[in-house]
Amino acid sequence: MLPYEVYKVAHLVGLAVLFAALGGLLFAARDVDGKPPRALLVLHGVGVVLMLVGGFGLLARNGIQWPWPNWVLVKAGLWVVLAAMPWPIRKFGLGGAWIALVLAASVGVAVVMVRQRIP
Ligand code: HEM
Repeated sequence: MLPYEVYKVAHLVGLAVLFAALGGLLFAARDVDGKPPRALLVLHGVGVVLMLVGGFGLLARNGIQWPWPNWVLVKAGLWVVLAAMPWPIRKFGLGGAWIALVLAASVGVAVVMVRQRIP
């Protein structure tokens, strides 16, 4: 198992990469087939995986096992939504500042979950 700090850095760098990609996906020009630049989808994937590996490492380092407390379940739910976001963005042409703000608010929810540790 890697040190706690390594997992935390991976988790938070993953978060930054994921949001950089989502920002790009929400505002990027689409090609003739309505597809966003492939690099943004790859970047999103890298962010999603880094967050997951870091998050599970942090769970292990904190000795948190299944069944997870509610604060982890809420965060896992947020992760699924953020991981799936490229689909509705492409399918429904979602974009713009409002969606970006709502997604950014999820980080606030995640921090409150971590700090409050709701059982
Ligand atoms: C499968 C999903 C996830 C798991 C298993 C997970 C797990 C964790 C754990 C165990 C911690 C460390 C708590 C500690 O310091 O001891 C943590 C911290 C953190 N997580 Fe997650 N997380 C997940 C998803 C997310 C998501 C979706 C976000 C943001 C939208 C997020 C944002 C954060 C932040 C900002 C911290 C640092 C909070 C602080 O130190 O105050 N995480 N996560």
